[in-house]
Amino acid sequence: MHLPPDHVLPGHTAGGHPGIGPAEPYRPQLHYTPERNWMNDPNGLVWHEGEYHLFYQYNPEGNDWGNISWGHAVSRDLVHWDELAVAIPATEDEHIFSGCAVVDEHNTSGFGESALVAVYTAWHPESRIQAQSLAYSTDRGRTWTKYEGNPVLDIGSTEFRDPKVFWYEPGGYWVMAVVHALEWKITFYRSDDLKQWTRLSDFGPANATGGIWEVPDIFELPVDGDPERKKWVLAVSLNPGGVAGGSGAQYFIGDFDGVTFTADNLTSDPERYSWVDYGRDFYAAVSWNNAPGGERIWIGWMNNWADATHAPTTPWRGAQSLPRTLALRTVGDEIRLVQQPVEAVETLRRGPASTLRDHEVEPGRATLPVRGGALEIAAEFELGTAERFGLVVRGGTAGEGTLLGYDTTSGELFVDRSGSGATGSSPDFPGRHGGPLPAVGGRVRFTAYVDWSSVEVFGDRGQTVITDLIFPGAASQDLGLFAEGGTVTLRSLEVWPLA
Ligand code: FRU
Repeated sequence: MHLPPDHVLPGHTAGGHPGIGPAEPYRPQLHYTPERNWMNDPNGLVWHEGEYHLFYQYNPEGNDWGNISWGHAVSRDLVHWDELAVAIPATEDEHIFSGCAVVDEHNTSGFGESALVAVYTAWHPESRIQAQSLAYSTDRGRTWTKYEGNPVLDIGSTEFRDPKVFWYEPGGYWVMAVVHALEWKITFYRSDDLKQWTRLSDFGPANATGGIWEVPDIFELPVDGDPERKKWVLAVSLNPGGVAGGSGAQYFIGDFDGVTFTADNLTSDPERYSWVDYGRDFYAAVSWNNAPGGERIWIGWMNNWADATHAPTTPWRGAQSLPRTLALRTVGDEIRLVQQPVEAVETLRRGPASTLRDHEVEPGRATLPVRGGALEIAAEFELGTAERFGLVVRGGTAGEGTLLGYDTTSGELFVDRSGSGATGSSPDFPGRHGGPLPAVGGRVRFTAYVDWSSVEVFGDRGQTVITDLIFPGAASQDLGLFAEGGTVTLRSLEVWPLA
């Protein structure tokens, strides 16, 4: 292995890094977490005057779900975040459930020129009614005022939530996608002023309906980078019934004509459902409105409702994924949603890469002379006789480690976190989660981002993505290779310490 002189990665020993040590061994270093308390879904994602806003479901009072308010953080690069004061606090009779935010450039709402307008689900604990409501800010999201005419959309339902609003340019009006959770149905509405909403159409049930539907998102993207050929994507989270068990998310590709969404990828074959992420911990993802350059970037809550409430972290609980740039790519005879971490993640690299080329991996596990708690790893393998092979990350004593591997018998990229450390947050926490990834030309390549309590693996430039939480010991920082049932050739490996 070619190693730069400082190959004992600086700042990557337990306790040697701010926020890491006996008190906070799982504090992510690459991912957003609030300093304290519970967080779930990202909300109100909007870019405005140079800042990416990240609001989120937040309990200002404690480390469990409750008192749900919109917490708030801002970033100029999507990588370094400043936590701000709670934006929209819960009151006794109104909790602030998930929703979105828009820049009202032309003051359609009358709240002010370029006001930020949040569209959220107001949940009333007594009646249990969920209705869509507005709050606005004219000071760059620092303070918020609830609209006195709230709610703006109330159908008397207790399962009607998570509005996503966007400006539909061809029609010159606002469109809202909002979910009827128990009916697996997304209803589209339109409005001229964000206050009066008229129903347009329904979508669903469709494809995966093994749980309830939550948190829809809809946007248009070019196919294979061709601006002349665009398709609409409708994503929806479901819980349980995700591909790895518990919470998950699926997407539909099709067309939206300003009234109706029509999907091209409807199927009755569960094997052909289109999953956003094959891991267990990527939920409620939504994208930024108004991102510069028309980019479509989203972020998801790195968790699963089945395990989240028992996650062994304190004094916070819940992390957001790396922000991911979305694109549509033709793969075989279908169009797929592909995801890559935003480029700015590269700025977290500390020092040159350690590299290894053309290395035969023998059956068993071998530790490499490079280690770290937070790493970016780019690997390319050429298939040999091994049935399964790959990397062991966050390795430690007594066989601790998380496998980022490939299974030639099923043609799947996988994460196996059975031996990842503390796995007791739910009976289903340990296990292997995989997604299909063809070995093109006999080669498999992926990039992985390893943090103090998570792994995100992007197979073949984001074609197959797996996100899983892990809770390894702070000292478990070994990186290794493994092969089972034969040998495999590691064509190239690049490892960057991240901080
Ligand atoms: C999804 C979700 C949303 C809801 C919010 C409540 O994780 O259940 O449907 O608005 O969380 O915190």
